[in-house]
Amino acid sequence: MKKVMLVFGTRPEAIKMCPLVNELKAHPEDFQTTVCVTGQHREMLDQVLRVFGVEPDYDLNVMRPQQTLFDITCDVLTKTKGVLEDAKPDVVLVHGDTTTSFAAALACFYAQVPVGHVEAGLRTHDLFSPWPEEFNRQSVDLVSEYYFAPTETSRQNLLDEGKPEGKIFVTGNTGIDALRTTVRPDYENGILEWASDSRLILITAHRRENQGEPMHRMFRAIRRVMEEHDDVKAVYPIHMNPVVRRAAHEELDGCDRLRIIDPLEVLDFHNFLARCNLVLTDSGGIQEEAPGLGKPVLVMRDTTERPEGVEAGTLRLVGTGEETIYAAFTRLLDDPAEYERMSQASNPYGDGFACARIARILGAGR
Ligand code: UD1
Ligand code: UDP
Repeated sequence: MKKVMLVFGTRPEAIKMCPLVNELKAHPEDFQTTVCVTGQHREMLDQVLRVFGVEPDYDLNVMRPQQTLFDITCDVLTKTKGVLEDAKPDVVLVHGDTTTSFAAALACFYAQVPVGHVEAGLRTHDLFSPWPEEFNRQSVDLVSEYYFAPTETSRQNLLDEGKPEGKIFVTGNTGIDALRTTVRPDYENGILEWASDSRLILITAHRRENQGEPMHRMFRAIRRVMEEHDDVKAVYPIHMNPVVRRAAHEELDGCDRLRIIDPLEVLDFHNFLARCNLVLTDSGGIQEEAPGLGKPVLVMRDTTERPEGVEAGTLRLVGTGEETIYAAFTRLLDDPAEYERMSQASNPYGDGFACARIARILGAGR
């Protein structure tokens, strides 16, 4: 019996780790599975835990208003120490590139507990873009024993850094496992009803390096395009970060065909994604979900660690300049050939069975 602990703390980690929690728990003869949430996010994390029916065994409850990287790192590092001493796991699984994952992996390294990195090997090779995520993901990979790489590209990134081939497993992305169960043809929602006479644009934005002037430029570009196209409506389920909220309300309030709403539950968000016309975002996970649904995405960032979606044609990196976003957004609305090119569905991030593969690698059924 292997004692597996999963540590996560933000919305996207929860969306991609809860299906794995449930998969491991379905093998009680092989695994004793425990869940430690850091609470780096609160409401946005709890929303996901509820949807997947996951009840944490430990909750570090670290979130503070406008927390800094220092706050999150120190709190998660010291509090994880106590949890490791109490639970004595054989292996700890962390996900992706958040500060929760970095600090939890560092705690495991200090306590000499093996780490498995789910969504290992993504790279931009620029430590400041995305910041601090590129540092976090590289650091977690430095101390990991198991690398669960979502794609061949991520496997190759790890090999290029000299990580041992026998420890790298290409599994697909566990986020696609979640998507496989959420999208429903009979899904209904009042906001989709409101937008049913128009092309629907879905917007999200939150990245730390975009806060401040870049985010204002993004929102100004979106507003200009919305005001020039009266057959378009937009929904922006906004992140709970007060800095993001302030910027969005300053730039977008009063634009009647654009509604800023609270964060959607993941089931709702995936169905909005399935029904929308196109997406503007700086999010990571949405870049993986949209190609499977054939939804063009304008990625409002300078770099991406998800080149597979760019190669598939669904993602286009548009930076954070007002004029470039304005031009790319306008073109996608006005040029049907360009829209058609970008809306071919393809799924470079796996077949939706990544969790079962990870469980097998960790010893299920042995
Ligand atoms: C974090 C991750 C980022 C990930 C993102 C997903 C780091 C450094 N950043 O960034 O990689 O892409 O989550 O969304 O790990 N807040 C709430 N309630 C919530 C969640 C957040 O009020 O449920 C507010 C708090 O004021 C908090 C602020 O948002 O201080 C920022 O949250 P934080 O986790 O520090 O940064 P994110 O931008 O969410
Ligand atoms: N998402 C959600 N509700 C929303 C917006 C996004 O459930 O209102 C989901 C989305 O489907 C994706 C994940 O949250 O799975 C992306 O999270 P986020 O953009 O916060 O983080 P990132 O992926 O950039 O780290």
